[in-house]
Amino acid sequence: MTSTEARTETVPDAASPREDLAPAVAAALATVRRNAVAFGDVFPDDTTRDNAYPPRPATEDFAEGANRGWTTCFWTGLHWLAHELTGDPADREVAVRQTADFARRVHAGEDLDTHDLGFLYTLTCVTAWRLTGDEAARDAALAAADHLMTRFLEPAGIVQAWGDLSDPTQRGRTIVDSLMNMPLLTWAGEVTGEPRYAEAVRRHVEQVRTHLLRPDDSTFHTFYWDATTGEPLRGATEQGAGDDSCWARGQAWGIYGFALHHRTTGDREALVASRRCADYFLAHLPADGVVFWDLVYGDGSDAPRDSSSAAIAACGLAELASVETDGERRDRYTDAADEMLRALVAGYTPTADEPSDALLLHAVYDAPKNKGVDEGCLWGDYFYLEALTRATLPGWRSPWWAPGDGSSVGEGRDR
Ligand code: GLY
Repeated sequence: MTSTEARTETVPDAASPREDLAPAVAAALATVRRNAVAFGDVFPDDTTRDNAYPPRPATEDFAEGANRGWTTCFWTGLHWLAHELTGDPADREVAVRQTADFARRVHAGEDLDTHDLGFLYTLTCVTAWRLTGDEAARDAALAAADHLMTRFLEPAGIVQAWGDLSDPTQRGRTIVDSLMNMPLLTWAGEVTGEPRYAEAVRRHVEQVRTHLLRPDDSTFHTFYWDATTGEPLRGATEQGAGDDSCWARGQAWGIYGFALHHRTTGDREALVASRRCADYFLAHLPADGVVFWDLVYGDGSDAPRDSSSAAIAACGLAELASVETDGERRDRYTDAADEMLRALVAGYTPTADEPSDALLLHAVYDAPKNKGVDEGCLWGDYFYLEALTRATLPGWRSPWWAPGDGSSVGEGRDR
């Protein structure tokens, strides 16, 4: 069976171990498809406004709806997930068309001064290569990985997160989210056989674990190094409530990112780090199981929730459970992932009274800057559908895994 001849049903088949989630999957797929028609080749903005996605705004350098910023990959990633869930060639066609624009973007050198090349190219070009064997997508993903490697700073041993490398305000700074950008480099190392990618990943993850993961198991959002001497300087927040608070999404990135690093390298310290992030996150859940935007807030607070953190954590906990060697922990993380996903389905999805073109309501992008507060967002939608896919599609292979874990390059050509 080729990918274009794949299954045509629109929800996971009866063999699914979690049939009760099928209505949630069907509702999410209906929204993804409706959005594909409504938006065409236009990329939406990072977050909804009053529960509707506006087109990505024009800037001095980019037209309205252009492929810029760090979140467009989640839109395309949703279409790849839709294709994997349904096997429908129409979903694949949308994903393929959008992916071609990511190849164009990297070759044109447009808006690449960010560590988020990992998110951007893992969910688009790497996925296209993995599922369809598209050589142009592979080449584009390798170009993105090489660009990301230019952000690796010696002697600090970190990948700089944001900005032009000569920007003094961002120089020597990395952030906990960066863990999710490492799989692109791990993939590039596997595909090319060149050890320099894995070495950069190993050193970067070690620095994040040593300096951003605090002794009490919470995380700094960001941390600065002296880019000249490599000396670690100080933690600071960008999107959290304070420098010493624990930004919920950062902690969720930590759960998922460290678990992925353990899966692809076997690094035991990364497994322990993922557990520590997970245990802290779970100890700070409010009664309904969906975190506030910063873990400094708990039940009784009127601070907004961040459903996107819960969606990322649901995926991260499932990933952690899948690599967990301790049976008690495996069961606990599996149950927590399941409960978190169900809490999102039950309380954070659109209803007749609160319709939206987001899959998930009530996320927070950046509360200190009052950006995207209590709105849907592209990454929340993506990780929500990824969590549903993990839970309902037997044999699904994660886009974040490098080929060396047993998923062969171009594997999807015969799906
Ligand atoms: N990676 C940026 C964010 O989570 O807001």
